[in-house]
Amino acid sequence: MEVITTINEIRTRIAKEKKAGKVIGLVPTMGYLHRGHQSLIEKARKESDFVVVSIFVNPLQFGPNEDYDRYPRDLERDKIMAKQAGADLIFFPSVNEMYPAKPKTFVEVNELTAQLCGKSRPGHFRGVTTVVSKLFHIIQPDMAYFGLKDAQQVAVIQQMVQDLNMPITIIPCPIVREEDGLALSSRNVYLSPEERNQATILYQSLQKAKEWIEEGITETRILKDRIRSVIETQSLARIDYVEILSFPSLEPVGEINETSQTIIALAVWFGKTRLIDNLIIDRNEV
Ligand code: PAF
Repeated sequence: MEVITTINEIRTRIAKEKKAGKVIGLVPTMGYLHRGHQSLIEKARKESDFVVVSIFVNPLQFGPNEDYDRYPRDLERDKIMAKQAGADLIFFPSVNEMYPAKPKTFVEVNELTAQLCGKSRPGHFRGVTTVVSKLFHIIQPDMAYFGLKDAQQVAVIQQMVQDLNMPITIIPCPIVREEDGLALSSRNVYLSPEERNQATILYQSLQKAKEWIEEGITETRILKDRIRSVIETQSLARIDYVEILSFPSLEPVGEINETSQTIIALAVWFGKTRLIDNLIIDRNEV
């Protein structure tokens, strides 16, 4: 697996592929790849000619008391997984390569970042949109693939691309789950066996919500209360938020079928690990 670490070198390499008429697909990641990332790479492989996986643990998107230092890193393992899924190249820049000096320019999306993870993690999305726009400028992909586990991130990046006229198609990809429903995340490795066991409540509560909606309970206030009660059955769970909003505009809704798509979004702490999950409900399916 070819690994490129400098901006100059990847620019030259991509220019060569573009000149040969290749469609470039980018899968931006922070590494410690799992099957969820592999599903993005596999989709990119099917839809583009040259697949780049970027691996960069972006300090700009972590708060001062967050897990930047302990975020799991393993390039050798990532190389194997990226290759297995069909990547052509890994872009693996250092922090110094991406931020040779303290940046004075940032990309910021308003409104969509005021709630959910944007509210709990101030500055997080400014870090995400800044680094993703840098990666887009450096790699100039035709398509970029993002997982819907971070559905707010997808909405924010789509908005950025639209507002800044970036000639890139954003492809949102479905959440990949463990057999017991836990959404795959690089952060799952932090969980103790007991926390891991209890963390399945996230998916279970979303499934319950789906059943209630199918039974005709559509008032979001009632649904949020019920979801909270389900999550709180687990002794180690500490809820950050349970929200139901329109998707992708992320505005409050009173009833589930008020807009064409609604997101039920959860963030829950298990010990020192904050997990997120969500379910997007299409009005036509209710
Ligand atoms: O989703 C992630 O892993 C990160 O937020 C991203 C998009 C790679 C930006 O650092």
